[in-house]
Amino acid sequence: MSAEELLGTAGVARRTVDAAESERASRLWWDADADDYLAEHGRDIGEADFVWCPEGLREADARLLGDPTGLRVLEVGSGSAPCARWLAAQGAHPVALDLSSAMLRHAAALGTATGLAVPLVQAGAEHLPFADASFDAACSAFGAVPFVAEPERVMREVVRVLRPGGRWVFAVNHPMRWMFSDDPGPDGLTVQQSYFDRTPYVEIDGDGRATYVEHHRTLGDRVRDLVAAGLVLDDLVEPEWPEDRETVWGQWSPLRGRLFPGTAIFVTHKPHP
Ligand SMILES: C[S@@+](CC[C@H](N)C(=O)[O-])C[C@H]1O[C@@H](n2cnc3c(N)ncnc32)[C@H](O)[C@@H]1O
Repeated sequence: MSAEELLGTAGVARRTVDAAESERASRLWWDADADDYLAEHGRDIGEADFVWCPEGLREADARLLGDPTGLRVLEVGSGSAPCARWLAAQGAHPVALDLSSAMLRHAAALGTATGLAVPLVQAGAEHLPFADASFDAACSAFGAVPFVAEPERVMREVVRVLRPGGRWVFAVNHPMRWMFSDDPGPDGLTVQQSYFDRTPYVEIDGDGRATYVEHHRTLGDRVRDLVAAGLVLDDLVEPEWPEDRETVWGQWSPLRGRLFPGTAIFVTHKPHP
């Protein structure tokens, strides 16, 4: 059964969704969808690989986190934790955090299968269960940030758990994708809605309860969230679609990727006082 069938998804609403309802919907969705997600994308994300985005940019090449050797790294919204396992293989000490127990079950199984078991923590990104300054770096590849109602809280929490000088690098849907439908084909080339409309995308069940939520922030909103949390923005990476890449990954496709960006990767650090 698909996640939609399991959750009784009855339609789409455009309405406000607060932090608690967003978190509940995300937990429901990712628990229900974990098996399908891994069946569909498992090969693309790998078992112990750090792929930042559907454009195929790898941390092994991009080195956005710097040299990970010996670093305590928090992966936020890790899913099945392929990135954390890659970091472990590089000599880092990662911790993988995710809201979904089903995703973390996959992470545990893959940890055993690869011999790269990493500590797994089930929690929401808006309230990290770690002491201040307990990590040297933090990262996220499409985990948590696009799904939370209050991303500024995630930024503040990550700043709190990072030591001064620590990097926080996270990838999200490029904000301009919000204007288009999720169709990877030609129909996904026509603007459907305003870039400036922050009303969340919400799938609902027959009782109107949210079963899946995505929140939109403009580029400016994201920069303001970072600055307000006290982070320094070092780079904004917009990976270009590689000439020879034919993969279609959800809404990401060669057709769209060659015309406009699909991913924004914010490279930041917590400054020394
Ligand atoms: C698109 S997946 C990406 C994960 C990973 N990079 C991968 O490719 O498997 C998004 C992940 O974010 C997690 N997530 C969503 N909302 C979250 C939240 N508020 N706190 C922590 N994790 C969250 C989901 O459970 C899911 O595992």
